Amino acid sequence: MSAYNTRMVDTITVVGAGNVGATTAQHIAENALARRVVMVDVVEGIPQGKALDQWQSAPIGGFETRVTGTNSYEETAGSSLVVITAGIARKPGMSRDDLLATNARIVSDVCEQISRTSPDAILIVVSNPLDVMCYVAKDVTGFPRERVLGMAGVLDTARYRAFLALALDVSVRDIQAMVLGGHGDSMVPLISYTSVSGIPVTQLLDQPTLNSIVARTRDGGAEIVKHLKTGSAYYAPAAAAAQMAAAIVRDEKRILPCAAWLEGEYGLSGLFLGVPCKLGRHGLEAIIEVELTPSERAQLAKSADAVREPMAALRARTA
Ligand code: NAI
Ligand code: 2OP
Repeated sequence: MSAYNTRMVDTITVVGAGNVGATTAQHIAENALARRVVMVDVVEGIPQGKALDQWQSAPIGGFETRVTGTNSYEETAGSSLVVITAGIARKPGMSRDDLLATNARIVSDVCEQISRTSPDAILIVVSNPLDVMCYVAKDVTGFPRERVLGMAGVLDTARYRAFLALALDVSVRDIQAMVLGGHGDSMVPLISYTSVSGIPVTQLLDQPTLNSIVARTRDGGAEIVKHLKTGSAYYAPAAAAAQMAAAIVRDEKRILPCAAWLEGEYGLSGLFLGVPCKLGRHGLEAIIEVELTPSERAQLAKSADAVREPMAALRARTA
């Protein structure tokens, strides 16, 4: 994040004070993106305790942002930006549909409260299943697409860049790449737009190695769950959400892969999908349409189908 651009907003709310939410709040505070960061959760004591702990790191970290925790949306009123991380992870015996229905209920409740207390906010949705939860957020709030974005592409791209850097034994900073599509097995790492300081990656790695890195990226979340056993990734997800927040608050005009509501871009409409987005103070300021190879275009269409299926299941459940 830029150390020179010091724009900040008054209040940023993080909903869900769990692993991703609390870590995101800490990044936002440490980077002085707001005067106030408010964490909200349904569990009494957790947001209050974590916020107090974070605030007590301020004298050491040297940041002024006041972090507070609450169970009430009144304290979040007038937020410019809201990061939604509330939800549950899939438990044994639960189908994907059960998870979908439970998290849709949670995200829907959260969004009703947010649209009442912070009607002008820009939303960054993190809760899974990501692309469908973005749809729930847009549907419930009625916010324009400029103000509803989903975080997944920044995370998936970071994983892809990290694996490439390992394989090449180069700095992660020199890998430029973009992962598009839905946040799931059907995500689309764009090999044709992957370069190392401008050198096409296909000149540096053979196809079998690239294929294995693409596969590891697609399984990136599951690989971490396998290690942790009782939870999912949160350090990189929180860093990704905070990077999006910074791009918006500081009007950085960054081009980042985010889930955005498509209205004909890439030949797709009526769903959220990961595409290259320009982020600035208005939220989504543009969707960049890049040329894709026939194979990448087909993969993106397949990924859109993988998002439409649970969207249809949710609509059928709530009809
Ligand atoms: P967690 O279990 O640590 O935290 C979730 C928090 O949400 C809990 O503190 C819980 O009390 C709270 N919560 C539940 N219902 C709520 C409600 N109605 N209002 C406010 N808070 C509520 O989970 P973690 O690891 O923080 O993950 C959060 C979500 O983010 C999950 O759905 C997870 O799958 C998703 N995720 C998405 C990623 C992405 O790339 N989009 C990456 C990592 C996680
Ligand atoms: C991840 O990719 C769980 O969606 C989360 O780590």
